[in-house]
Amino acid sequence: MSKQPDIKLITTDDGSHSLYVSRLNETYHSFHGAVQESVHVFIKSGLQYKTQQATQPSCSIFEVGLGTGLNALLTAEYAHDHQLKINFTSIEAYPLKAELTDHLNYCNYLKAPEAPEWFSKIHQSKWNIDEPIHNHFLLKKIDKKLEEFSLPEAAFDIIYFDAFAPSKQEELWSYDILNKIVQAMKPDAVFVTYCAKGQLKRDLKNLGLTVNSLPGPPGKKEMVQAVKQ
Ligand SMILES: C[S@@+](CC[C@H](N)C(=O)[O-])C[C@H]1O[C@@H](n2cnc3c(N)ncnc32)[C@H](O)[C@@H]1O
Repeated sequence: MSKQPDIKLITTDDGSHSLYVSRLNETYHSFHGAVQESVHVFIKSGLQYKTQQATQPSCSIFEVGLGTGLNALLTAEYAHDHQLKINFTSIEAYPLKAELTDHLNYCNYLKAPEAPEWFSKIHQSKWNIDEPIHNHFLLKKIDKKLEEFSLPEAAFDIIYFDAFAPSKQEELWSYDILNKIVQAMKPDAVFVTYCAKGQLKRDLKNLGLTVNSLPGPPGKKEMVQAVKQ
């Protein structure tokens, strides 16, 4: 297994780990707290917002950037705690090696004793097929670039848009990519991201979404939540 020498494990302000990519001078999460950010942006403003609107037995989520698997793990915990069936599809162009993911301390932040087992399964499961992580959480990891992947139409209730920042990876925030994502959303589906750039908000509005600028996680003024009509 080849190493990923340009990626280094770091500790963020809430004690949880993240990764620093020297090639991009970019981190996978906020310096102010990786777990704190993921919980605020993706779990509370996306998953909890959507699933507490109306009782639903299941929910389908598409994530851009599996990365460390932190969002997948927190979502697996939510599915377990709320006995909610979640189908989680996550695309990742540059899968991380086990030598990095094995050292991530995210399981310390979960109450469930099964967390380490779920986290290992998230990283060890096969690519491009549905794999059960537990009774309520089905994971499909896709090892492709988002630009090259055809998304199914009107398939997802929630989008976790967790690409690197537009200043580092502009191509993933283009109007065409956002359009592809919006087409994959069901009516009333919710799109969430940590990014709050004006161009993103204008593009999502032009694509017909209702855009809400919400308070961001600690250290960040705003984040975007956008709802499809
Ligand atoms: C901000 S990090 C995401 C973090 C991840 N959600 C987590 O919690 O660790 C962005 C992720 O997008 C992935 N990525 C970069 N370019 C991509 C592309 N063209 N298509 C799909 N994924 C991509 C990166 O490898 C990285 O894992």
